[in-house]
Amino acid sequence: MSTLEEIRLQKILAQAGIASRRKAEKIILAGRVAVNGIIVTELGAKATLRDKISVDGVSLSAEKKLYIALHKPEGVLTTVSDPHGRPTVMDFVPDNARLFPVGRLDFDTSGLLLLTNDGDWANNLTHPKFEIEKTYIAQLRGEPSPDKLETFRTGIKIDGKLTAPCEIICKREKYTTEACIVIHEGRNRQVRKMCDAIGHPVISLKRVSVGKIKLGDLQIGKWRHLTEDEANRG
Ligand code: URA
Repeated sequence: MSTLEEIRLQKILAQAGIASRRKAEKIILAGRVAVNGIIVTELGAKATLRDKISVDGVSLSAEKKLYIALHKPEGVLTTVSDPHGRPTVMDFVPDNARLFPVGRLDFDTSGLLLLTNDGDWANNLTHPKFEIEKTYIAQLRGEPSPDKLETFRTGIKIDGKLTAPCEIICKREKYTTEACIVIHEGRNRQVRKMCDAIGHPVISLKRVSVGKIKLGDLQIGKWRHLTEDEANRG
């Protein structure tokens, strides 16, 4: 999961707007940085975005909280950094804050992706117990029969475990079907696996809402701040 990805401390400090990477290295070497209460002076040291990091005793979590909606394009990784240099969602958002993605969309999925520097808020949106509703528009191969749609709604076994009840509404097109799918779980490649399981693979997939937060007319590759109301309702 991206928030648990290990990142060099100087990069975290730079992204938090504390100093440039070069200056952040000097701050680390001077013994001014602590990770989970322990002073770290090695430049190779790494931390995750959930570690408690402080500079001169002041916690980075005191930084201004940011809540962002991105219209993720297809062909982009949902991760903070990629060792192979592929495009990531971080290429599309402001880089002066310790933002990280809330949950993930597949490389080939487009649509609404939330990013924040608020770990508690991210947990609330992704924890299975809150069953946050996510809505997708999928283009499916062929046309699912009413029976198949019923199994889709009541639960399908994927990866050895039944899916929770969900909603699907279909509109027939010439050779394909446009499906509006609402799920309350966040299992890996869940929509694609569910559609494969009923024999109607996904041709394209776009997320249009997470909870009460909607993609709306946000252009592909663009981001916006959430309104206070959206961030509060999460
Ligand atoms: N389900 C998928 O299959 N892919 C996504 O990106 C999101 C949900």
